[in-house]
Amino acid sequence: MRVCVVGSGGREHALALSLARTAEVVVAPGNPGMAPRTAAAAESAHFALGGSGITLTDDPPEDVDAELFVIGPEQPLVDGLADRLRAERRLVFGPGADGARLEGSKAFMKAVLAEAGVPTARYGAFDEVKEAQAFLHELPGPWVVKTDGLAAGKGVLVTDSVAEAEADIAAKLSGESFGDAGRRVVVEEGLVGPECSLLVLCDGTRIAALAPAQDFKRVGEGDEGPNTGGMGAYSPVPLVEDRLVDRVLDQAVEPLVGALRRRGIDYRGVLYAGLILTAEGPRVLEYNVRFGDPETQVVLPRLTEDLTGLLAEAAAGRLRTEPRFSPDASACVVLASEGYPAAPRTGDRIDGLDEAATLEGVTVFHAGTALDAEGCFVTAGGRVLGVSATGRTIAEARRRAYGAVERIGWEGMHFRTDIAAAAAAAERSEGAA
Ligand code: AMP
Ligand code: GLY
Repeated sequence: MRVCVVGSGGREHALALSLARTAEVVVAPGNPGMAPRTAAAAESAHFALGGSGITLTDDPPEDVDAELFVIGPEQPLVDGLADRLRAERRLVFGPGADGARLEGSKAFMKAVLAEAGVPTARYGAFDEVKEAQAFLHELPGPWVVKTDGLAAGKGVLVTDSVAEAEADIAAKLSGESFGDAGRRVVVEEGLVGPECSLLVLCDGTRIAALAPAQDFKRVGEGDEGPNTGGMGAYSPVPLVEDRLVDRVLDQAVEPLVGALRRRGIDYRGVLYAGLILTAEGPRVLEYNVRFGDPETQVVLPRLTEDLTGLLAEAAAGRLRTEPRFSPDASACVVLASEGYPAAPRTGDRIDGLDEAATLEGVTVFHAGTALDAEGCFVTAGGRVLGVSATGRTIAEARRRAYGAVERIGWEGMHFRTDIAAAAAAAERSEGAA
């Protein structure tokens, strides 16, 4: 089968590599770390990676000849790419614009969750500063202020300070901080507990959960600093046992799919539940309409089932196969460029990719890279690389990933040193007990 993956980040690199085990894959547009774009580039560049059976194209997805389309990022989904492809009778994994609104508008998502009776944080949606600020005072802290529209994972403030929340509401609603995405805000109660991402395949009716992962959203060690798209991840999550996954499917995912169907939405794609495990049980923080990044980079390397078959089944409305996972663990450390998340610098030359890629269990996913005139990899975005590794335990996967990180470097590169640290320590103390 020929599969077209739409997108250019680390998540799409992970999707492409997994799909390429059983399919011919073309990525539109992809990035140069996934595959050589031309024969000349292949010769001159240092391709530490890439996959057999992966090619890149600059053609718009509508012009690509493929039997299955897998759309990576949220923006093209919100913009209706899946609808345009389906109108041409193509098989597509990814919701239409109607389903993608779950991520395109947080106010819409919260309204559907309320309708479906899904446990989530108390909230209000506002476009007036005074009303939003008044609602803040009805909630116990901490407080959360989100842009209604898309903001690449950066539009969320969680704070213990009412004054900061008030100022953030004003900056978002005026358009000053996030432009039009912030002209409406969602104000919520802050929930407390460990977070977990659950990616669930959906064929419009049936659902099948992938292995849970934990993501690290804040830029700094110990969860300090601003939110990012994600600085690292690991899987499995020992806190989240099968029983808990079943409970989330029953209480949060099945009812959502039912509510979508009642609205006439035939959702074929991933439902990504962002969960917080509170003392009162799991609560949904948000739904995204695509695979998580970097969660995909730790979940897919553990998948033992054929991804092409699974996604084709879901796209066709015939999801039958149960996804299965290796008992091995995986961890991914995101390497970011100077200034990320506020103002990432680009164009810095990256060293050590070849060496890192040869290490046992390691895969370096390219997210924001480009080639310079001499064919060397340079940074081309905020999140540049996702250095992933598998191992028998979380501790081993983590050690291997950081071992590879040590080989890689560029001017201004930064990363968190505590990805999966607590889970690895808990595993050790359990082993010692
Ligand atoms: P979202 O884009 O809605 O997932 O929010 C991004 C991040 O902000 C989440 O992963 C959480 O770390 C944090 N967050 C969002 N909503 C809440 C909430 N109600 N309580 C606590 N933290 C939250
Ligand atoms: N890792 C967070 C996200 O994909 O939204």
